[in-house]
Amino acid sequence: QRKMGSEKTLVIGMFGFGVVGEGLYKVLKQTPSLKASIKKVCIKNPSKKRNAPASLFTSEKNDLLFDPEINVIVEVINDSVAGYEIVTTALNNGKDVVSASKKMLSEHLPELIALQHTTGRSLLYEASACASIPVIRNLEEYYDNDLLHSIKAIVNGSTNFILTKMFEEKLNFNEALLLAQQLGFAETDPTLDIEGYDAANKWVLLLAHSYGITTTIDQMLFNGITQINELDAKVAQSRNQSIKLVAQAKKLQNGTVASFLLPQFVDHADQLYFVKNEYNGVVIESGFADKQFFYGKGAGSFPTASAVLSDIAALRYGYRYEYKKLTQQVPSTLSGDFHLRIYISFEDLANIPKEEFASIEEWHSGNERSYLIGTIPLKSILHKDWWKTNNTSLVLMPDNIIENTALTELKKMSLSLAGL
Ligand code: HSE
Repeated sequence: QRKMGSEKTLVIGMFGFGVVGEGLYKVLKQTPSLKASIKKVCIKNPSKKRNAPASLFTSEKNDLLFDPEINVIVEVINDSVAGYEIVTTALNNGKDVVSASKKMLSEHLPELIALQHTTGRSLLYEASACASIPVIRNLEEYYDNDLLHSIKAIVNGSTNFILTKMFEEKLNFNEALLLAQQLGFAETDPTLDIEGYDAANKWVLLLAHSYGITTTIDQMLFNGITQINELDAKVAQSRNQSIKLVAQAKKLQNGTVASFLLPQFVDHADQLYFVKNEYNGVVIESGFADKQFFYGKGAGSFPTASAVLSDIAALRYGYRYEYKKLTQQVPSTLSGDFHLRIYISFEDLANIPKEEFASIEEWHSGNERSYLIGTIPLKSILHKDWWKTNNTSLVLMPDNIIENTALTELKKMSLSLAGL
């Protein structure tokens, strides 16, 4: 049993003083009860004016990494190569680490899990997915792999903000993106947000904590929101739906997991419909509990800093991720064998591989753009680029995963109806 007052005093060395770093600095000043203080901040550009005493800053990384008094390194920079170097050196030097660098973490997760094991140190990164929502710790501690039927989430604040502004306030894409940048939601390179990379990196992390799946974004079916056009928006409105960038994973009947991250039509019956602007949301379906919904700010200075703060607080009592689903259970594997129900709009039908669809349920032809809704095997989309080029736009339908067993049943049904 832990004795009262036995928590470690935390002396922090922080890398980065951008949106998140400065947020954390301010938040820590307002949380004296935490017994944690920032001793030094390492920054790249020493000539930039900062809202903190000059004595706090250095641009020499070893001032932090080799200071024996510093026992926690907070890494909130956006260079994933430098970030990896910092985090691994810190762990090897016996320091615990808190990071918000989703790209770096997603690119190196297996190595970082191994390094936590060999060094016995802790690497926490709650801020790296859904910012203020405590989703990683919940997946890690609360949901057993077997009982986790599905997880569906909006994990990028900027794209959700842009889509909300476009759909509800009739801003155009560029105006909405500029606003997301000004408010500190977007990445320094905003193509990471709008082309789906940021969300895909976060999804890699969430898949590890929900199903014990280690994967990379290269293996993942994903896209961003840059292809969504006026016709898609009109179709969504006519169906009383909105379009959102949604990440999804679902356990199939054969035990494998279907996973993808694509724009999707979302209707009122879905909790994610009400997730607007920079908010994120996660809907988890699990055995016996049915649906649970987590909601909170997914980007921005204080919401992200609040998750970093919570990780720092957890380090006081030696908290670490156990990666139970990877190490103590049989990890799930990703399925390559299911169908998706998709909407696709295009200028020229010649660019659409019609013959690959298992069925086509709607078809609308227009002067400038046309669209169809149908069911297509994953393998006709994964690692294919016909749907990302030639001015096409793919949006998933709300009920989008068709297991192959269901497909066989459907075919049998239609054959018997046809009297064959
Ligand atoms: N650019 C990210 C987003 C920041 O918009 O979600 C939070 O990770």
